[in-house]
Amino acid sequence: MTRMLIVGGTGRVGTAVAAQAVERGHEVVALSRHAPAEGSAIPGVRYVQLDLLTAVDFDEAMEGVDVLVDTTDGVSRASGRVFTQGSANLLHAAARWGIARAVLLSIVNVDRCNLRYYRTKTAQESAYRESVLETRIVRATQFHDLVTGVFRTGAKGGIVPAFGGVRLQPIAIDDVASILVDTAEGAGRAETTFTVGGPEVLSFREMAAQWKAATGSRGLVLRLRMPGAIGAFWRSGGALIPEHAVGLITYRQWLQARERA
Ligand SMILES: NC(=O)c1ccc[n+]([C@@H]2O[C@H](COP(=O)([O-])OP(=O)(O)OC[C@H]3O[C@@H](n4cnc5c(N)ncnc54)[C@H](OP(=O)(O)O)[C@@H]3O)[C@@H](O)[C@H]2O)c1
Repeated sequence: MTRMLIVGGTGRVGTAVAAQAVERGHEVVALSRHAPAEGSAIPGVRYVQLDLLTAVDFDEAMEGVDVLVDTTDGVSRASGRVFTQGSANLLHAAARWGIARAVLLSIVNVDRCNLRYYRTKTAQESAYRESVLETRIVRATQFHDLVTGVFRTGAKGGIVPAFGGVRLQPIAIDDVASILVDTAEGAGRAETTFTVGGPEVLSFREMAAQWKAATGSRGLVLRLRMPGAIGAFWRSGGALIPEHAVGLITYRQWLQARERA
């Protein structure tokens, strides 16, 4: 049994990692600013509330921890500091507590896109590589949830966006969580960056059609041009890693399972 600290352990990925780690018999501490939402706490997990940006000590979270798994997120300019200042604080404390190993969740080819969010994630990767902890970085492709969020938001205005020229390789969070727990258990070589992708490459139009079929949405599938750095990155194929299609759950299977739930 390993004691794992899941940083961001109440988030979408963090919750799935915590659940799988408990299931495999590990002792799990989950760190976040807020307690888990009602009904979403995983039995057996010890939840600790700390802000990575302001915490003065991490004693409650770090005592006896063997490995930390970082699944935090910060989308806005202000919250993005969790990737820079937050990671620096976390890694400094982890080194002081003698935590031997770290696993960081990142994004495939994150250093090849000039989006501000990607630049701060790249800085976070650097902080981990430069830390004294034995670090493994798991770079994943886009989650099924991300794609679905785009369709759901568009459909509120009657449109299901199909971004022209964009193909993605979406992956299920449960697949990512399983790989993160394997990695926290020591799978793969130390100081390595792994890339993990979903089982198939799909165009946005194909994903839109699958989403409409699964949800019964009447939204109009509309070809749009995705603007900005992320549009250029996605159109270039930078988000694809077909040679590492390790995820098992296809987008269609994931949608069907959600509709049944
Ligand atoms: N979406 C994708 O397609 C995709 C693809 C590849 C990789 N990723 C990566 O996956 C990671 C996790 O994403 P997610 O969707 O699981 O995020 P999420 O659901 O927003 O969860 C983020 C977690 O971080 C915690 N957190 C945020 N700021 C914090 C702070 N200052 N101190 C302590 N805890 C803090 C949050 O809890 P509190 O708010 O309570 O603090 C929450 O537990 C991100 O790093 C993202 O880059 C995402």
